[in-house]
Amino acid sequence: MTTKREVQETVAYLREKLPYAPEIGLVLGSGLGPLAYELEETVSIPYGDIPHFRTSTAPDHAGRLVCGTLAGKRVLCMQGRLHGYEGWTPEEIAYPVYVMQALGVRALVLTNASGGINTGFAVGDFMLIEDHINMTGKSPLTGPNDEALGSRFPDMTFAYAPDLREKAYAAAQDCGIALQHGVYCGVNGPQFETPAEIRMFHAMGADAVGMSTVFEVIAAAHCGLPVVGIAMITNMAAGVLMQPLSGAEVNEIAMRRGADFRRLITALIGKI
Ligand code: HPA
Repeated sequence: MTTKREVQETVAYLREKLPYAPEIGLVLGSGLGPLAYELEETVSIPYGDIPHFRTSTAPDHAGRLVCGTLAGKRVLCMQGRLHGYEGWTPEEIAYPVYVMQALGVRALVLTNASGGINTGFAVGDFMLIEDHINMTGKSPLTGPNDEALGSRFPDMTFAYAPDLREKAYAAAQDCGIALQHGVYCGVNGPQFETPAEIRMFHAMGADAVGMSTVFEVIAAAHCGLPVVGIAMITNMAAGVLMQPLSGAEVNEIAMRRGADFRRLITALIGKI
C-alpha cells in the first residue's frame, strides 16, 4: 500500500534537490530515453538516491529523474521506468506518479514502445493512447487504500484526458507528423505475445500492445493527475506479419524514429 506519509518523505527530499517545482511529468519508454538530453539546465538524481524509489534494470533505461526545461516548461522526466517483468510490483511501478502529483505536476506525459495490432499501422508510427485494456491481471491499488491519496474506486472514464489528447493532435499537426490513435493493451511480459493472444487482443478492441503504462495511468487516475500517452509502434505484434520479433528491433526503430518522437513530445509539452 502506498501511503501519503511515504510520498511526503520522497517529496521533502526532492524539494531540497530540485531547482524548482515542476509543472509537467514525463516518463520515457524503451529506447526513448535520449529525449531527456534535450532538457535545458538540468539537475539529475539517480533513482537509487531517492527515498522509497526503486531502480530500473531494463536495458536502455538510465534510471534517474531529470528536472529541466523543455519548450519553456518546467519538466520532471523519468529517464527510465520500472516494469513488472523486472520483478517490481504494480505499486512500486506506480509510486513515482504519486510523487510527481504531490510535487505539483499538473499533467503526466507517458511514452512507450508498443507492438502494433491494428493492421492500419506501420512500424515507426506514433499512436495517441485513447484508452487502455489492462491485461496484466494486476492493479497498483490492490490492498488497503490511503484516502489521503485517492478514493477506493477511482473512475477511469477520462483517465486519458480529452483536452490533452486534443493538444497532442494539435502538436502533431504543427510538426507535420502523422498521429494514429487507439487502445493500448498492457501485458506483463517479458515474453512477447503469441499470435493467438494478439488475435484475442485484436478481437477485444486493442490497437497496440506493450509491457508498461497501465499501472502508471491507474495511479494517475487515483490521485487525479491528468494523463496523455503516446506509443511508438516499434514492431508489428506477433503474427501480424509472419516473422519473429526481437527486443533489438524495438530499440532500433526507437532510435530511428527518435528525432521525430522528440519533436512531437516537445511540441506537446509546449502546449500543456
Ligand atoms: N509486445 C509487447 N510489448 C512490446 C512490443 C510487443 O510487440 N513491442 C514493444 N513493446
